[in-house]
Parts: sequence; structure tokens; C-alpha cells
Amino acid sequence: PLIEQLSGMQQLERQLCRKLGLRQCYVVPGDSDLQFQVVDAMGKVLNNKLKDLLPVGTNVIAVMGGSTMAEVAKQLTADLSVDRQLTFVPARGGVGERIDIQANNISAQMALRTNSLHRALYVPEHVSEDTYRPLLAEPSVRQVVDLIRHSNAAIHSIGEAVKMAERRAMPPEVIAQLQAEHAVGEAFGYFFNEEGAIVHRIPRIGLQLEDLATMDCVVAVAGGASKAKAITAYVKIAPPQTCLITDEGAARMILN
Ligand code: G3H
Repeated sequence: PLIEQLSGMQQLERQLCRKLGLRQCYVVPGDSDLQFQVVDAMGKVLNNKLKDLLPVGTNVIAVMGGSTMAEVAKQLTADLSVDRQLTFVPARGGVGERIDIQANNISAQMALRTNSLHRALYVPEHVSEDTYRPLLAEPSVRQVVDLIRHSNAAIHSIGEAVKMAERRAMPPEVIAQLQAEHAVGEAFGYFFNEEGAIVHRIPRIGLQLEDLATMDCVVAVAGGASKAKAITAYVKIAPPQTCLITDEGAARMILN
């Protein structure tokens, strides 16, 4: 039965790559909406993929926040840093998440698990455009932002638009606007509709979507049938080298 299950997953992976126009898709059995341990399985795949994709030598890895990222961080292993020097950085400044699922914390956790370095980015969560320009000029912020924008790898999740906006306590008028514009997904602080058009972005410090284009390694980890729409929409704006790690629940929903 295990062999049958494996080949079934490989079939799903091929169908998913074709449907989404991606070169690399990995599907683990189960649905993380229903079974929490499925996220750990995605984390193990992430660890293996990083071994394949990260070049030997110096790597700067930008990581996003969220509950998926917090959980998969626990699956990274120290052998990732055997032939490599890894520095983990948060991909963006604070986006109003709980501390345990903020990108700063996750990059520190990943560094701990892999015997590597990390740099934190301390910027307040709710800064206006007027505040954030001079903040960027501050040398301690500038240094980390430069490191982030020159990172060669990124690891992130994909969320449902309104759910993410509510979790981050975004203003009700912004949430109403997201609903009016039919936003279905969120990644990197960008909110997009089913066609993959960006309808809102959080003006925050850090990695921009265009920075992903030149990276060696971009891995998106997102599972659960509830994320099917968000995943399908995000891949329309994702860089083509994106490696998607998902689960059976999301994959079957995307394919149906
Ligand atoms: O940025 C947040 C992610 O896109 C999704 O968060 O892993 O908690 O669902 P999650």
C-alpha cells in the first residue's frame, strides 16, 4: 500500500505541476486543515529540497512568517549547513502577527536548528509611509534590508486574503476593500485576486516580489484544502522557479 500511495502522490505532483505551470511540486499525503502533523511532513520535504536547491557556500535565506512557517522551521536539520554558510533573515518587517509566528522569530528558529546565523529586522508594525522612509535610511535598518534584498533564497507560505487581514488586525475599511476586490490570497504582504492581480500591498520594509526573480531557490509551503484558491492565484504571480510544497487536501481541491 505504501508503494501505491507514493506513486499516487507522484501522479498528483505531475498533474499539479501541469495545472499550475510550475516545474517543481511536492505533495504529502493528508490535509493539514484536518491533521496537524501533515505540516511536519511538508517541513521534512522542505529540508530535503533545501539540500538540493541551496548552492554550496554562502547563502542568505529570507523567510516569511505565519503558522506554517513556524511549524516547518522545526524540521530543518544541522546538516543543511555542512557545506554552506547560512544566514537567515526575515523577508519583511513586522506585519502585525503574533510574536511566535513573526518572520523575525522564524528566521531565528531556523538558524538555531541549522547551526547558522540570523539577523533580525526591528521595525514597528504599523508605520506610515512618512515614517518608513527615514527608518529605511537608518544604518542598522539599512544593513539588514540590503542583506534581505540581496538574499539568494526565500521560503514562504501562502494565506487566504481576508483571514490574513483579520489575523493581522488590518483596518475594517481595508478588509472591506479586499472583499470588494475579490482578494483570495496573500503572500509576502501582497494581496491578490483569482486572476493573480495584486489588489493591495502592505507598504512594509523588506523583500519585494520582484526580488524573487533572480533567486537560486524559492520555496512556497502551503497546504490544506482551504488554501486551494490562494495557491492557484499566487502561482500566477510567482517566479517560475518556485518549488511548491503542499498536501493532498490542497492538491485535490486545486485539480477539481
Ligand atoms: O503570511 C502568512 C502566510 O501567508 C500564511 O499563514 O501559515 O498561518 O496560514 P499561515
